[in-house]
Amino acid sequence: MTAPILRRLDDLRALTTSWRSRGEVIGVVPTMGALHQGHLSLVEAAKAGCDRVIVTIFVNPKQFNNPEDLAKYPRTENEDAQKLLPFDVDAIYVPDPEEIYPQGFATTVSVAGLTDVMEGEFRPGHFDGVATVVAKLFLQTQADRAFFGEKDFQQLMVVRRMARDLDIPIQVVGCPTIREPSGLAMSSRNLRLSPQGLQVAAQKHRIMNDLARALQGGAAFDPLAASARTALLAAGFAQVEYIQLRCAETLDPLSRADKPARLFVAAWADGVRLIDNIPV
Ligand code: PAF
Repeated sequence: MTAPILRRLDDLRALTTSWRSRGEVIGVVPTMGALHQGHLSLVEAAKAGCDRVIVTIFVNPKQFNNPEDLAKYPRTENEDAQKLLPFDVDAIYVPDPEEIYPQGFATTVSVAGLTDVMEGEFRPGHFDGVATVVAKLFLQTQADRAFFGEKDFQQLMVVRRMARDLDIPIQVVGCPTIREPSGLAMSSRNLRLSPQGLQVAAQKHRIMNDLARALQGGAAFDPLAASARTALLAAGFAQVEYIQLRCAETLDPLSRADKPARLFVAAWADGVRLIDNIPV
């Protein structure tokens, strides 16, 4: 069945208020559109765990530190609605920009600490934009559960912290990264890769897995990270922004994988910035 596409908060509220009055559990999958299998796996998880599912589509200007990246971000609303058809979601919320940022909007939600490193360091202001829009989407949708991919692991942690700190009554559910057969993590940005860029990008997961295997053997991280950087450049990546090993709970840096850890990489291929992470 075709889900209604709602652009106004009032229309969304009318629906969610009636669902809540019947005690139905509402799930939300926040997205910026250009939906791929990764998003659809979140929708599937939401459908399995909730009575009602809302998918939000909003390309949030506040989280783009680079205007060119914002301008180039794919916008594919009709295709997105088609892709959602088989999932029978209850609403697709594509808010008009002024529903999110009305005239005079002056509030920023900023999560300290977790946002100082990695994506926060290389994309100044990014997480303030994410935390602000996600807080709004949580409050606007009145959802009980929200579904996020582990592909953006740091984002997942920032959103969890924000919801806890602000007492927003929502459960933030993390779902595993979905990969292409090549191992490339699915991302809307992959749409911008040429066939050659895709081949380069696909090398990243193999190089990360090699590094993770060596870490599991107890080796020190720094020399392995230096070799992985060389391997990424040799594979055709133009630039490696970071390779980091961090505690999976706190994001504190680790010199060895001596507790549950996560390996994070950000690198540029074909003019596209690609991030990925895997558990160690
Ligand atoms: O992961 C994304 O697509 C975005 O950061 C999100 C969570 C939808 C907020 O704009």
